[in-house]
Amino acid sequence: MRASERVLALSLGALLFLSSCSSSPPDPPVKAPAPIPADPVLAEQGRSLFTRKACDYCHSLDGSPATGPSLVGIARRSDRSALADWSMDPELVYQREGRRPVHQGFPPMPRQEVTRQEAEAIAEFLLSLNPPSGR
Ligand code: HEC
Repeated sequence: MRASERVLALSLGALLFLSSCSSSPPDPPVKAPAPIPADPVLAEQGRSLFTRKACDYCHSLDGSPATGPSLVGIARRSDRSALADWSMDPELVYQREGRRPVHQGFPPMPRQEVTRQEAEAIAEFLLSLNPPSGR
């Protein structure tokens, strides 16, 4: 290949490259984080479990003081799997966090008799709470 041919080939290549860039579709718009899928039926089950399992014995939903921290605004501070862990087995949280208790000024939360299915319903309920009023 002669020098002039090589230059031609190179510039053709560059041209192709550039045109392929400009014809590529625009970047998709940045997506907002997916909204928490609310399952109203599951959340309703969680609401009654929250009382049946006596979570409300230690946790207020309106900010009033109790044995455990108030769960006002918990949906902003936690996520589905952490909430289910607390309900089902706080030791899972303590292992992950590497400390026990997690919240200063509170004792560790004792393990409750809650199945995974119940814990998921309670998590759904807690996520459905509308901060800051809690209910
Ligand atoms: C005997 C009292 C008691 C009961 C009953 C109880 N908890 Fe707790 N809970 C606590 C305490 C105390 C803490 C704080 C523990 C810590 O900081 O390590 C806590 C922490 C939590 C947290 C974390 C709060 C935060 O702000 O990070 C959640 C969520 C929670 N509990 C949910 C539940 C649910 C759901 C139930 C019912 C299945 C329940 N708790 C039953 C005492 C209780």
